[in-house]
Amino acid sequence: MPTNQIYPRSGDTQTVYLRSVVQNPNIQIGEYTMYNDFVHDPREFEKRCVLYHYPIVNHDHLIIGKYGSIACGARFLFTSAHHTMRSLSTYPFPIFYEEWELPLEEITQAWDHRGDIVIGNDVWIGYESVVLAGVHIGDGAIIGTRAVVTKDVEPYTIVGGVPAKPIRKRFDDETIKKLLALKWWDWPHETVKRQLPQIMRGDLEHLENPKVS
Ligand SMILES: CC(C)(COP(=O)(O)OP(=O)(O)OC[C@H]1O[C@@H](n2cnc3c(N)ncnc32)[C@H](O)[C@@H]1OP(=O)(O)O)[C@@H](O)C(=O)NCCC(=O)NCCS
Repeated sequence: MPTNQIYPRSGDTQTVYLRSVVQNPNIQIGEYTMYNDFVHDPREFEKRCVLYHYPIVNHDHLIIGKYGSIACGARFLFTSAHHTMRSLSTYPFPIFYEEWELPLEEITQAWDHRGDIVIGNDVWIGYESVVLAGVHIGDGAIIGTRAVVTKDVEPYTIVGGVPAKPIRKRFDDETIKKLLALKWWDWPHETVKRQLPQIMRGDLEHLENPKVS
């Protein structure tokens, strides 16, 4: 992909290469990962999809690998969505520090810190799914439509539901092991392009030596 190219398809302004549209240094997106939004401008991904991710407080990261497919309305909820459970009350008193004469530097006590959201390569995130803070999603996983992902997802696992539970693996264990070793998403563009027929028809055997095609 040319550096900073926003739209992968001519005439389609509903689909963007995410890394070309995100500004926040705490959001890292791999090459070719795309986002489609047919309701709002997909260039507003940060504003509409990365929620409760306030720059002044927790410094959490959203990290998404390469060749990801992110469907319309997927949401990533960060720590500031999690009112603390350590308190006797879920009311976020530290946010209203002026009213309650609390120290501003203790504002993060309003939330239970959950940490980064880390998503691997070749992950497909379904329509209107929600990924909660601290969740790690492995390479090749699929998040079903409207799933609420509360726990880590193993590589090449399909999850769905509320809370999201494994539905099945995409491949048998041996195939998954080979794919994770192969890491085709790290190949140069030309190699991926040359090997696309094998990738697209699921021909792992002929992918194992990327120099032979
Ligand atoms: C999750 C998904 C990939 C599963 O596909 P699949 O493996 O072909 O699934 P099946 O239709 O064979 O269903 C398998 C089981 O999962 C359940 N299931 C399927 N999708 C589900 C979802 N989103 N949430 C909860 N359960 C789901 C089915 O009810 C079925 O349950 P059962 O075994 O108890 O009968 C697919 O249903 C999905 O949600 N895709 C995302 C579509 C999307 O959001 N596209 C956006 C445009 S890119």
